[in-house]
Amino acid sequence: MDLNLIIRYLRIVSGSFLFFYVVTHLSNHSLGIISIDAMEYGRSFFLTFWRNYFVSIILYSALAIHLLLGIYALARRKNIKLTAKEWTRNISAVLIPFFLAGHLSITLYGSRWEGLIDSYSFMVVSTWVFDFTGVIFLILMLILVWIHGVIGIHGLLEFRSFYIRYKRVFFSIYWVIPSLAIIGYMSAGMKALDKSDRDPSFVLETLAKSNYKEATGKLILEISDKLQFLLYPSIVGAILCFYLFRYFWLRSQKTIRVDYLDGMRSFVSKGTSILETSQQAGITHEHVCGGRGRCTTCRVRVLSDLNKLPQPNQIESKVIKRLGFDKNVRLACQLRPESDIKIMPLLSLNKETKSQIQLGTQRSLSGVEVEAVILFTDIRGFTRMSETKLPYDVVYILNKYFKFVVESIEDNGGRVDKFIGDGVMAIFDISNNMNENCKNALVASRSISKSLKLLNEELKSELDEDLKIGIGVHAGTVILGKMGFGQSSSETAIGDSVNIASRLEQLTKEHSCEIMISKKLADLARINQKNFSSLKTKIRGKEDEMDALFMEQASEIQIN
Ligand code: FES
Repeated sequence: MDLNLIIRYLRIVSGSFLFFYVVTHLSNHSLGIISIDAMEYGRSFFLTFWRNYFVSIILYSALAIHLLLGIYALARRKNIKLTAKEWTRNISAVLIPFFLAGHLSITLYGSRWEGLIDSYSFMVVSTWVFDFTGVIFLILMLILVWIHGVIGIHGLLEFRSFYIRYKRVFFSIYWVIPSLAIIGYMSAGMKALDKSDRDPSFVLETLAKSNYKEATGKLILEISDKLQFLLYPSIVGAILCFYLFRYFWLRSQKTIRVDYLDGMRSFVSKGTSILETSQQAGITHEHVCGGRGRCTTCRVRVLSDLNKLPQPNQIESKVIKRLGFDKNVRLACQLRPESDIKIMPLLSLNKETKSQIQLGTQRSLSGVEVEAVILFTDIRGFTRMSETKLPYDVVYILNKYFKFVVESIEDNGGRVDKFIGDGVMAIFDISNNMNENCKNALVASRSISKSLKLLNEELKSELDEDLKIGIGVHAGTVILGKMGFGQSSSETAIGDSVNIASRLEQLTKEHSCEIMISKKLADLARINQKNFSSLKTKIRGKEDEMDALFMEQASEIQIN
């Protein structure tokens, strides 16, 4: 297996494991809102799991691996042009060990080697009564760890359909867990201070119960100081020296030339990734996943000799295989050329490029080829029905209909491309995983169908007959680009796949069904196809017949 892929998996697995630990730890803190006893009660369960011999080994290994891989990733960077999110993640990662040192000296060294019982009573009393700086440190550490963890987890899940669907729930959790933990810790601290004021023996008893001795305290403090003020600065200093050394070394190395289609040119050392090259040269280059080979937004078309390119690494190969890229399309974050190269970034969705698009520059008008899912939906017989209604009523019904259609699409990672009379065309391409995009489109279709039922109920007295819709969905390659002229231009998708989705939607009329999808889409979404009827249909302009599936009610689609 490719080393990059192994490293990536190790980072994900160790990071996720550590995040799970943090979630349980902070949840335990939040019991302080009730009482210190409640925290101790929660801790008994926490310890049963986390101080189990094997789990402890896994936990500390995960911590060490995550730390080392973080240092390795930092060391591999050839520039420090980072996005705000990357800066936050890296700065928090650098600061966490400093704040963690004191805590680890107690919980790891003190409890395991000095017989100290690091109960909540002890931790709360030792900080709130004796060391208020410790309180600030603990709260800062909690915030840093949480921010770092959430950025990692968000990066890992952001294109998953379930995450997109339940984004609000996840975001609420991101706020609720640390807030409750801080409130719990503060409330326990207040209770401890109050108790120590009322009963001076409380503090001594707590220390005695925790097996605390002055000599142990001194030792822990010494270790903590050594970690924070000797080891930590040494490691950070060593990394900085490494950077400086490499910076000058790279400058003395042979360089290669990277040419961009629009005439920009940059000279970098061999082995620098194209994404890093763009960043170094100040060229805006989309990289939604932060260069981890998960999003494909950094992809470029190579315009020079393909034979001189290094083979794709395993991360890149997987993406290329899954999305069926042409041979000359590569991921800028993974491609590290060894010789001169000419490229053209394929996706430019940032603000700067959007303004270029508004100006109608050549690049934006040329469009990009992407894999996407296209959905068409249309109301059946709406023109006929609207002839018998007042214009005001027609607009009222249409707006109600559009509201839930748009919500269903957007809540499931899609975007409305255009409204065509009473029809809607939507694109689902948020994920680099087409299975996810296909699933998203089907969940959106199901949601539209369910909402339509509710609307029909609501408008029962207004309508002579229920509103009926047709939905067509297909997955394939489309050209995304700016179409039109001047102010009247807008970004849209065109291509065979769009025509096929539209044709499938029209076929729903002939087959009196609510939804018709291509077999290809159903396979990609890995849905249960038993409830669908199948047919072969001819698409205009295509020689071969294509397989399609249809269902009377889209609300009955079963998705795993
Ligand atoms: S930046 Fe996401 S794949 Fe390259």
